[in-house]
Amino acid sequence: MTMKAKTIFRCQECGFSSGKWLGKCPDCGTWNTFSEEKQIEKSDKARRTLTDFTGDASPLDEISSENFSRTATEISEFDRILGGGVVAGSLVLLGGPPGIGKSTIMLQVSKALASNGKSLLYISGEESMGQIKNRADRLNIKSKNLYLLSETNLENIIEAINKIKPGYVVLDSIQTTYRSDIAGAPGTVSQVRECSAELLKLAKSRGVSVFILGHVTKEGDLAGPRVLEHIVDTVLYFESEKQQVYRILRVNKNRFGPTSEIGVFEMKSDGLKEVKNPSSLFLSEQMSGIAGSAISPTIEGTRPILVEIQSLVTKANFGVPRRQANGIDYNRMVLLIAVLERRLGFHLEFQDVYVNVVGGIKIKETAVDLATAAAVAGAYSNFVIPEKLIIIGEVGLSGEIRAVGQIDERLKESENLGFKKAVIPKNNTKALNYKGKMEILPVISLQEAVGILKGK
Ligand code: TYD
Ligand code: MG
Repeated sequence: MTMKAKTIFRCQECGFSSGKWLGKCPDCGTWNTFSEEKQIEKSDKARRTLTDFTGDASPLDEISSENFSRTATEISEFDRILGGGVVAGSLVLLGGPPGIGKSTIMLQVSKALASNGKSLLYISGEESMGQIKNRADRLNIKSKNLYLLSETNLENIIEAINKIKPGYVVLDSIQTTYRSDIAGAPGTVSQVRECSAELLKLAKSRGVSVFILGHVTKEGDLAGPRVLEHIVDTVLYFESEKQQVYRILRVNKNRFGPTSEIGVFEMKSDGLKEVKNPSSLFLSEQMSGIAGSAISPTIEGTRPILVEIQSLVTKANFGVPRRQANGIDYNRMVLLIAVLERRLGFHLEFQDVYVNVVGGIKIKETAVDLATAAAVAGAYSNFVIPEKLIIIGEVGLSGEIRAVGQIDERLKESENLGFKKAVIPKNNTKALNYKGKMEILPVISLQEAVGILKGK
């Protein structure tokens, strides 16, 4: 067996390795992320794997297509995120900042999974068995099929899995787990990657569903995020704005279902509770008579959610005016401001402009463009958008209003929540199926829309 010890430097962000220390990672471009690792290079034969995985090739015709068996949990928001329940043999990564509720939700999910006949092993390297039991009591969880293990060594963890033969495994967290035959402290890229790869083999070869919990850094990245995201089947992120009681579970990647779904939860004294109608959360207490606020139905995944977009426009004191966007894309906001300046003659070049989406939700689609522009226009010209009115539309560079997708769903949800009028793109009226009671106000340009909103 050939064996040589060698020192390498590895980017802790993306896993890029180099023979010498580098200040900036040439692969992912981050600074100061290289740390030294002693690496023992073994020949391929000597490379140890802890689990077995057959490597025989088969003709395509002889392979029966997999029928993913899914298990529903009692938490329907969680099931929806996964595309309809937990897939047997899947590897799911749940990331989020400390204290957001990763352990809490996984314990709640564990309870549901362990009541389906198969057993579940919850491994914690973060807390003692007693601490987990405390949390379980608080969540009112009792189960004969739920096993707890306080362990950080992966060899021991695999051994426990071999003994208990659970149908589901929860590893809390990947950053505390290590393999003794891999160099580097727990939480380094090589440990995170090797441990996850081992768990992937375990999941695939035995049909065990594995959940890996991971912390994200202040910048919002998981340690070695790219490394892990490649390996796992599904990536979930738990997020919230500071000081907010509710938590948003988001899908970033899913081999077994749609991405861009979100689930909304509220942290209560007895665990996380689903919020079934999130629209109500994201609307502020509708102070009527305030300029600079607009409401728009946005589609998150498969579901319309009403959001309130607020804007504040104040005279700039220093040379370059400030622009700040919370919840919408900064560049998109800058573009909308440019359109307002150029096409409607607004003098925003001397104004600070702030845009905020109420409730801390992050909107990625352009269908809220018109509502955003309307909020800024209202804040600048000091007009109040009529009550019970929603605004839908993408804004083009010449100020034209472009059609958006899923218009019927957006309108239906708005009507359900008591809205009476809707400003929508003219182009959307051609194929409109909506037969509800709301008054539809079609517009072709931003100018026309602002005119309607001002009550002209
Ligand atoms: P936790 O699941 O430990 O977060 P993570 O694993 O992501 O670090 O939950 C953290 C917070 O949630 C903690 O501050 C206490 C609070 N909490 C409740 O408010 N209610 C509960 O029922 C539980 C279990 C926790
Ligand atoms: Mg935890």
